[in-house]
Formats: sequence, C-alpha cells, structure tokens
Amino acid sequence: MMNISIIGAGYVGLITGIGFAKLNNRVSIIDLNTSLIEKLKNFELPFYEPDLQKYINDKLVIENINYCSEYESGIDKDTELVFVCVQTPTNLDSGKTDTKFIKSVLEKLKELEKYNFNICIKSTVKSQLVEEICNKIDIDFSKIVFNPEFLREGSALDDFFNPDRVVVGGQDNDVIQKCLNLYKDFDCELISTDPISSQMIKYLSNTYLAMRLSFVNETYRLVKDNGGNPLEVLNAIGKDIRIGNNYFRPSPGWGGSCFPKDVKEVENSYNGQNKLPLISKIIESNELQMDWFSENLFNIANQQDIDSIVLIGAAFKENTDDLRESPTLKIYDRLQNKGLNIVIFDKNIDLNSDYSFIAKLDDLKANCLYVEMFPDVSDERKILISKIRSLNNTFMLKMWE
Ligand SMILES: NC(=O)c1ccc[n+]([C@@H]2O[C@H](COP(=O)([O-])OP(=O)(O)OC[C@H]3O[C@@H](n4cnc5c(N)ncnc54)[C@H](O)[C@@H]3O)[C@@H](O)[C@H]2O)c1
Repeated sequence: MMNISIIGAGYVGLITGIGFAKLNNRVSIIDLNTSLIEKLKNFELPFYEPDLQKYINDKLVIENINYCSEYESGIDKDTELVFVCVQTPTNLDSGKTDTKFIKSVLEKLKELEKYNFNICIKSTVKSQLVEEICNKIDIDFSKIVFNPEFLREGSALDDFFNPDRVVVGGQDNDVIQKCLNLYKDFDCELISTDPISSQMIKYLSNTYLAMRLSFVNETYRLVKDNGGNPLEVLNAIGKDIRIGNNYFRPSPGWGGSCFPKDVKEVENSYNGQNKLPLISKIIESNELQMDWFSENLFNIANQQDIDSIVLIGAAFKENTDDLRESPTLKIYDRLQNKGLNIVIFDKNIDLNSDYSFIAKLDDLKANCLYVEMFPDVSDERKILISKIRSLNNTFMLKMWE
C-alpha cells in the first residue's frame, strides 16, 4: 500500500487513480477544474467510460480516494509518489507539444518540495522537454521517472488492470523500483529503461498503430479500385500470424486525443538528414482517407437523391464520448462545405451538451443516407438499425461488414 497523488482527473488520471485505489493504495486526485472535482465528489461521471460508474461507487475506492482541486489538500508529508497526468496537446502555432500544463504542475510541485515525494510523469511528453523545464525551475531531473500510459478509451479500466506491459523510465534505480512496486502484482512484464526510451516506446507504439490503420484504409481503397473485395483481402492478410487480425479494421479515418498529436511529435523529433519518409506520410494518408470517404458520401447522396446524411457515432470510436480529433466531425465539416444537410447522432453524448450538431434520433426519417462511423454491438444500436431498415428509400453504409 502506497500514498500517491494524481494530478489531472481526465481519462488517464482518473482511471489511474481509481485503479490504484481499488488495489488498496491511498490516492488523492487533484484537478484545477472545480466542476469536474465536484462531480466526482457527488459520484457523478465526468465523461463516459464503460464500468467507470461502478468503480466510482466501489466501497474500497471510496474509502481510499480523496478528490480535490487544491494541491495542498492532496499532497502532504505522507505522499510518496505524484503522478502527472495532465494534457499535452499540440501547440497550434508551433506544431510542437505544448508543455504549459506540465510546466505549471512542476512549478506547483516545486513549491511543495518540503515534502518527500517523487514525481512520475504519465503524460505523453518527451523527457527532454521535461528536463528543460526542470533545469529552469530547479527540480532534480534525475529523480523523476516516466511511466507512459497505454490504456484505450472505451476499455480503460480493463486495460489498467490488465496491461500488455508496464514501462518505467528513469535515471535513479530506487525511484524506478518505487514506481514499479505499485505494479508488482500485475500479470505482465515490467520494463525499466532510461527516460528518453520510455517515452519513445509510447510515441512509437501510437505511431505504429496509426500507420497500421492507415495501411488498412489504403488497402481498402486499392482493392476496391481494382474491383476486388477489400474485406476478404484484409481478412486473409490478417491470417498471417506475422501480421494478425487485431486492429485491422477499415474506417472513415482514425482520430482521438492521442494519435494525431503523437504522430506529429514523432515527425518533429527527427533531426537527421532527410525526413523519415514512411512516418512523415501517416497523417497525410489519414486526411486523404477522410477526403475519399466524404467524396463517396457526396456521390451516393447525389445519385440517390436523398434529403440528408446521418452520421451515426460522433466520438472518435466506439464506447467513448471523446470528440477530440474525431473523424466524424471532420467529415461533417467537409460535407457541410459541399452544401449537404448533415446530422450526427451519438448515444453516448448528452443532448444537453454544447454540441449543437448532435441530433436526437427519435423520429427517424426516410430518404436519408445512414452511415455507421464505427461498429457498436449494443442492443440499442441493433434496434436503431432495424428501425432504419424499415423506412422507405434509406441507404446504410458501413465499412467493416
Ligand atoms: N486519453 C487517452 O486515451 C490517453 C492514453 C494514453 C496516454 N494519454 C496521455 O495522457 C495525458 C493526459 O491525457 P488525458 O486524455 O487524460 O487528458 P485530459 O484532457 O482528459 O485530462 C487532463 C486533466 O488535467 C487537468 N489539468 C490541466 N492542468 C492542470 C494543472 N496544472 N493542475 C491540475 N490539473 C490540471 C485538466 O483540467 C484535465 O481534467 C496526455 O499526455 C495524453 O497524451 C492519453
């Protein structure tokens, strides 16, 4: 049992905090967003994630967890490890990682250095950038460890308890061991390495996954263009055990809070001669996929003389309400620019939210092109699809069946 604090109660911080509390550690979760903390104190979900409500209400979690919006209420003399889980978006001007959230956390932790905790960075950020900040504000970088997070939104709690591997990077073996100790009962390999490599493992895992999805999407277009059956081709390619069928599903494009920014940062990180030809084309490939998909919808809409297009699924994938870099929203913009009437539906997104483009699908209309943006195996989706099928002159589109 350890006393830990988590800075940032977003997808990563909240899941990590709740997971460690369930494993009987004492956890303080600190977030400057007071309304988010209020929700958590009232046992309300701050975002949609399967099983999260169950864990927020769990007796052991409640006993072990403390939600607060002030650092002083969540860090004290007993705190052993502080996990930094704040966002690391791309800075729109420079195209590089914006470290202002990390910097402001480290400045605050510097003020509390009278206590005897170590710092563990869970956010995805290059260790060199953290080292620069540490040098500026006089924090001993050699005592900092990095523990990159690999969870997937939509199965985040399951991923927390059953990771494929745990990686800790650092320069000080005692601090690395302290962090690894939290994971000692996990059924997976615990990997320790240096700070740069630990973050490269995270960045390049995401880059590989994005590249794989783009390969699948290009394959789909190529086979279709040649008059073949893309799904049969992909299925047969995936039977090769060196390739595998996991994460091998065609889509209108990939998105989310991580892939686009992480691939961009990897591209930016190479200072050698010439560019990295493969990696530097991944984002372009994805943009072209979304162009191709929008163009297809536009053509079907014109040929079939339909009234509107309904995109089913606003989030960037199934089982989440996260709209960051969602392909649905990008395709929506592309089609609106062509003057089409578009509606988006997503059962996980609150209709009272600020998103004016989200529609209620209670009165389904005929003469529409309905597009499933990603699969959803819920009963709710099955009922929806059978209702749509019973209407006149509707068209259904999905890429994976
Ligand atoms: N979302 C994912 O699936 C995922 C998976 C693996 C890794 N990551 C990485 O983890 C990091 C966090 O991602 P996320 O999706 O959880 O972000 P998020 O935007 O959901 O949450 C970040 C939280 O940090 C809080 N915050 C910001 N500055 C703060 C400060 N100074 N003090 C206290 N709280 C502060 C924000 O209010 C917000 O609630 C990113 O680096 C991301 O790349 C994310």
